[in-house]
Amino acid sequence: MSYIENTLKGKTVLITGGAGFIGSNLAFYFQKNHPETKVIVFDKFRDSHTFPSGNPTSLGHFKNLIGFKGEVIIGDINNFGDLETIESLNFDYIFHQAAISDTTVLDQELVMRTNYEAFLNLLDIASDKKAVMIYASSAGTYGNSPAPNGVGNGEEPENIYGFSKLCMDQNVRKILQNNPKAPIIGLRYFNVYGQKEFYKGRTASMILQLGLQALENKKVKIFEFGEQKRDFVYIEDVIQANIKAMEAKKGGIYNVGYGKAKSYNDIIKCLKNELGEFEVQYIKNPYKFFQTHTEADIQETITDLKYEPKFDLESGIKSYIRQIKEIYEGIK
Ligand SMILES: NC(=O)c1ccc[n+]([C@@H]2O[C@H](COP(=O)([O-])OP(=O)(O)OC[C@H]3O[C@@H](n4cnc5c(N)ncnc54)[C@H](O)[C@@H]3O)[C@@H](O)[C@H]2O)c1
Repeated sequence: MSYIENTLKGKTVLITGGAGFIGSNLAFYFQKNHPETKVIVFDKFRDSHTFPSGNPTSLGHFKNLIGFKGEVIIGDINNFGDLETIESLNFDYIFHQAAISDTTVLDQELVMRTNYEAFLNLLDIASDKKAVMIYASSAGTYGNSPAPNGVGNGEEPENIYGFSKLCMDQNVRKILQNNPKAPIIGLRYFNVYGQKEFYKGRTASMILQLGLQALENKKVKIFEFGEQKRDFVYIEDVIQANIKAMEAKKGGIYNVGYGKAKSYNDIIKCLKNELGEFEVQYIKNPYKFFQTHTEADIQETITDLKYEPKFDLESGIKSYIRQIKEIYEGIK
């Protein structure tokens, strides 16, 4: 189902981070709903490098793009030669998803270069082309400030990831103060879950991780005592927000969540409804920093972007469960 009425005939869409979770979903959204649109995916894909945590340094995976018929460009947004390649392309919209999305990475220089500095370079390129820039920001910008989280309030990131995203937003704010119509829309995603997140491994949503643990061991482990709350948002709603942002009348920064916080125990409840009984073991949380309550205030997203989230946690998990079972069958 298309989320906009305008035809995108003759238009070109560039998706950075298009081999990742959200980027690949965007690529397939266009392929399915706007076959008249030219879609270019730009991604560095994964190599053999890992962070000290053992997580891969980039999470893009070719399997997310199997069946994609558009153009695929391999490149690193930190590499000037690769940025020149982007500069040489003609595009009307850029969906900038490429980033170090792993919030546990501690290498501040690398996170700032990849998430912030490269974004500034891409903004310049997009602006020269008069292309619309729709980029991924994050609920990480709010750190542990009290929910509900409203754009412009309590922006106190607790880690370098959240800080890098806040720097992006602050730069955009300055641009929009001088030119409110500048076509730049930042989307602060909350906790996204859904198809094509499997290759994020240990950084995939708790919904996938707990679902797989339940299928595999009939037992799941969560941090004591499961009452930490997050605004879990289903991938379909995140795609909807991105597509609706294409028709925004002005630039801005918007929250993209469902608009209601749910706890880890709520996830367990929904998973038990779908998968039957399993055991829950509460374990100590090893992270010094952990968001304990996020909830997106989505009023402006609704008003300005006409965003209408459709999937609460229960219906999101219901829609996702078949894929979780397929993933389990594939890895077992
Ligand atoms: N998934 C969530 O819950 C969530 C929440 C808030 C914000 N975000 C943001 O949304 C965006 C997409 O997230 P995702 O969940 O799809 O993550 P992801 O890691 O699956 O996707 C990011 C993609 O960027 C690519 N990439 C990384 N570094 C690159 C570089 N230097 N050059 C080119 N490509 C590079 C990776 O290969 C990967 O394909 C990211 O900016 C992330 O920070 C995600």
